[in-house]
Amino acid sequence: MAAKRRVAVLISGRGSNMVALAEAAADPDYPAEIVLVLSNRPEAPGLAAAAARGIPTRAIDHRPYSADRAAHEAAVDAALRAHGVEIVCLAGYLRLLSPFLVGRWSGRMLNIHPSLLPAYKGLHTHERVLAAGETRHGCSVHLVTEDLDSGPILAQAEVPVLPDDTPESLSARVLAAEHALYPRALAALAQAIG
Ligand code: GRF
Repeated sequence: MAAKRRVAVLISGRGSNMVALAEAAADPDYPAEIVLVLSNRPEAPGLAAAAARGIPTRAIDHRPYSADRAAHEAAVDAALRAHGVEIVCLAGYLRLLSPFLVGRWSGRMLNIHPSLLPAYKGLHTHERVLAAGETRHGCSVHLVTEDLDSGPILAQAEVPVLPDDTPESLSARVLAAEHALYPRALAALAQAIG
């Protein structure tokens, strides 16, 4: 088969979507491999989860850079290039990206967002969906562009909102859908640029 595309996953927290991608990539027939898991938070539990799977990890803490977002992004970009990364998957990476990093990875940077975009961009999607009385919710994988949660949508999965849902129960249902969707969307992009 063709060479696998080299993927970095950027995280800030627990990294369950990163684990879903890593598990998919463990299949010899999967068209991508996870060559780096990078976090802006050294304490992110997902870093240990990646290391336990033998995946190289990097922590580039944003805090010492304080207001110098460009310098932090330059360090992140240098790490990605040092690992020969071809595709970047944001997976709970809680940093707003500047046009610099977005431009460097244009067409090759994905994000997963817990809503049926273009509805419910931003944070606290499950609470907002429940407050609005929606009957359907879900998740989207999209290409990252300069505007938050607004790039071209590559894949979506829908879940029902049930009458007795709490933000926690709804979040768990969406997360399970995310774990199936993200590996599919990454495989499609990896094959498309293959
Ligand atoms: C997911 O809900 C994802 O859609 C959102 O942040 C959460 C990350 O969860 N962008 P995890 O770190 O992958 O478990």
